[in-house]
Amino acid sequence: MKSRILFVCLGNICRSPAAEAIFLGKIQKRGLLKDFEVDSAGTGAWHVGKLADSRMRDSALERGIEIRSIARKIKLSDFLDFDLILTMDNDNLHAVNQLACSQDLDYNVKIEPILSYAKRTKLLEVPDPYYGGSKGFEKVLDLLDDACEGLLESFKK
Ligand code: 4NP
Repeated sequence: MKSRILFVCLGNICRSPAAEAIFLGKIQKRGLLKDFEVDSAGTGAWHVGKLADSRMRDSALERGIEIRSIARKIKLSDFLDFDLILTMDNDNLHAVNQLACSQDLDYNVKIEPILSYAKRTKLLEVPDPYYGGSKGFEKVLDLLDDACEGLLESFKK
């Protein structure tokens, strides 16, 4: 059975598409693409239908990571279609939990902060880089690389 993972941030144009692309790169490198289904979504709808932010795409591409996803908003069926939802910050975590509780349905999905899988940081949230400079995007990529490595390791156990 495939493990189905959904990465979630606010706009789905910076952090969660980067997490999706980084994780995809790691499983591709290890020949594990067939074992996973991976996607990303936002809790907000402002950027639905758009490619990821060009600053995020350019920073990722410099590391050999191509971000191809198109922004979409999280939907109720995601709680049935994914086993694990990984959020970038406490606002996303709260919004996703609220949405899950808004319907009287029995979901099996696990909802966790992505940085709970990171080993090289004490940060609990991936900072929103949208209104900042280029260093913010590099920081996001560093944090997500660490977290995605830990995430992949968690499946080996
Ligand atoms: P993301 O970043 O949640 O990592 O995609 C943001 C993108 C857009 C906005 C905020 C954060 N915005 O306010 O439009």
